[in-house]
Amino acid sequence: MKQVYLTVKSNEPIAAGTWKMVLEGDTSAVTGSGQFVNIALPGLFLRRPISVCDLSEGLLTLVYKVVGKGTDAMSAMAPGTRLDILTGLGNGFDASACESSALLLGGGVGTAPLVLLTRELRSRGKSVTVLLGFNRAGEEMLAAELEALGARVEIATLDGSKGTRGFVTDILHQKADGPDAIRYDYFYACGPMPMLKAVCGAIDAPGEMSLEERMGCGFGICYGCSCHTVNGPRRVCADGPVFKKEDLIWQSK
Ligand SMILES: Cc1cc2nc3c(=O)[nH]c(=O)nc-3n(C[C@H](O)[C@H](O)[C@H](O)COP(=O)(O)OP(=O)(O)OC[C@H]3O[C@@H](n4cnc5c(N)ncnc54)[C@H](O)[C@@H]3O)c2cc1C
Ligand code: FES
Repeated sequence: MKQVYLTVKSNEPIAAGTWKMVLEGDTSAVTGSGQFVNIALPGLFLRRPISVCDLSEGLLTLVYKVVGKGTDAMSAMAPGTRLDILTGLGNGFDASACESSALLLGGGVGTAPLVLLTRELRSRGKSVTVLLGFNRAGEEMLAAELEALGARVEIATLDGSKGTRGFVTDILHQKADGPDAIRYDYFYACGPMPMLKAVCGAIDAPGEMSLEERMGCGFGICYGCSCHTVNGPRRVCADGPVFKKEDLIWQSK
């Protein structure tokens, strides 16, 4: 973990209620996809965790949805604003776990960490299919960036206004056979808990997923972010946020 000051290079809306912020400065502690940063915001006691969306040419990209005070304050930040950020947090995705064909599934702003993951998988020569799920047209994000990296991208919306009607798992069922069947040996997922649980139920292949839990400290000392695993309780911030499918125990809530 490294505390740094990064400068906002750009900060623009990219979809309904969703912004992309590009930061420049010392990104040396960011080592891979699935990691997150924890941002100090004026007047707020707790830092706000946001996933690393992309890291390229020394620039760190974050994509965030405005849901409350912290993300609202971020959306008002002009280029040149300096931010106090803890970088290099969390254990991210393991791009080496995929043999040849990866399936990536993102729900809403859970799409964000899949950009750097796609970059890593493509640089290892893997084929990448990305299934993205949103509530409605206008919320979709980052499809062009993922395609530019060489991924096949399919979209589902709950109301059917864009792509397949339903969930990402409905795309999987639709494209299980035929000439455009989706083939994969390993999956990676990030999104809301109900989506992750449905994905684990629908996919037989091994895989891993990034959990989003409300956080206190963000670096392992407050135990405010635990989840249940076959190895006992684990901290999402320090032991995750990425966990293997077979290690997670889903709690019925
Ligand atoms: C490891 C990790 C990575 C994340 N990556 C991203 C990302 O890439 N992009 C993004 O938009 N968001 C991400 N989040 C969620 C993000 O941290 C919260 O949306 C943010 O902290 C909300 O701050 P706020 O002050 O705007 O809202 P608050 O006023 O704190 O809360 C507003 C609403 O957001 C909900 N909320 C707050 N924190 C979380 C949380 N951690 N998880 C789920 N819901 C929350 C609250 O329940 C409440 O309904 C991530 C969270 C974690 C733990
Ligand atoms: S947020 Fe403090 S231990 Fe995870």
